[in-house]
Amino acid sequence: MINFKELASEYKTPLYVYDLDYMTAQYNELKEAFKGRKSILAYAVKANSNLSVVKHFGDLGSGADCVSIGEVRRAFLAGIPSYKIIFSGVGKSDDEIREAIQKDILYINVESEAELKRVNLIAKELKAKCRISIRVNPNIDPKTHPYISTGLHDNKFGVDIESAKRMYIFANNSENLDPVGIHFHIGSQLTELTPIRESAEIVADMLRSLSNIKIDLKFFDIGGGLGIKYNDETTIKPYDYAQAILGTLTALDITVICEPGRFLTANAGYFVTKVLYEKQNGDKKFVVVDGAMNDLLRPSLYNAYHRIEAITQSTKDERKVDIVGPVCESGDFLAKNYLLPELEHNDLLVVHSAGAYGFGMGSNYNTRGRSAEVAVKDGQARLIRKRESFEDLIALEKDYLI
Ligand code: LLP
Repeated sequence: MINFKELASEYKTPLYVYDLDYMTAQYNELKEAFKGRKSILAYAVKANSNLSVVKHFGDLGSGADCVSIGEVRRAFLAGIPSYKIIFSGVGKSDDEIREAIQKDILYINVESEAELKRVNLIAKELKAKCRISIRVNPNIDPKTHPYISTGLHDNKFGVDIESAKRMYIFANNSENLDPVGIHFHIGSQLTELTPIRESAEIVADMLRSLSNIKIDLKFFDIGGGLGIKYNDETTIKPYDYAQAILGTLTALDITVICEPGRFLTANAGYFVTKVLYEKQNGDKKFVVVDGAMNDLLRPSLYNAYHRIEAITQSTKDERKVDIVGPVCESGDFLAKNYLLPELEHNDLLVVHSAGAYGFGMGSNYNTRGRSAEVAVKDGQARLIRKRESFEDLIALEKDYLI
């Protein structure tokens, strides 16, 4: 049990708290599910990119799925070996491609023909042979929130099967490209198995047809997306997930790569915020807290539900409130119409499932420093990122005052 009161008094609020032991258990469960095969879990760094968190997964044997050279650098700093680092994303700059090639990572996940040409050219300039994988868009509806669905042709991600085939042939004929993998990722917070299985089938068929033309790939990269329980969702069991995918790969000698983010970190994380005041506007009751959309954007951006637990002595009846932060936007809320008892100044609210896409999607809007981050491991709490100070926020401006 994490003692949020103690942590809040020591590290102040708003505060992110991560349970590293929970992350370990999630990692092991998923890794175990793929045990019938050679597999690599490449942690999706974007979900929670704190260096200590990335290092924690690295220590467990994880690789890293990165979407910017910044994330690649984080992965290296966290001690993830180059041969387990993947670089994905629709818009990589020349500099990013160059650095990824020089760092000799496992492969670059290419998302368009134009990108493939750039990678080829840059690899040629560097006199290198760059390992690549191609992100295929299987045009399958993942049945998740439209903002986090990526596997339809309407989405900007990946290329269709026909283009992918042309790209593999081009890569195979190039002296500077080495096609080693095939990738798909249809969306995030997936709670239905069918779209995953159907996508895996399409991509596995493609793998076979490439093999027929003597392009033999080594890695079948299934992306991330495994959903978690925020509320009362029925989620997919890691074992069933792995079985559904492995079932499409019969007779293929291939290493499976999975890029989980949310599954590993979301329910390991808590966002702790303090009650400032309650206020009433007409019929509407608000609880104003010191955490805001700049700390945890998901409710404002996706109308996402996060369970919120009150740490209070209050024994009053629960009533419906909007939990809002200090940011000057009506969209600044952590929850709407949420049942909570009457709260006192300095009571704590613990926002659950905040370990993925929480801190990382934060900003300094309204000149608010980002929260501190604390990790709990074997019952011990450690600060893993200092709270940002006002000086931190102006550091890159103050010498450029005009
Ligand atoms: N691999 C690729 C290529 C991805 O694009 C993503 C997530 C992942 C792996 C990890 O997906 P996960 O296992 O975490 O579902 N900000 C949104 C989620 C955006 C996900 C973007 N891509 C949210 O807060 O729900």
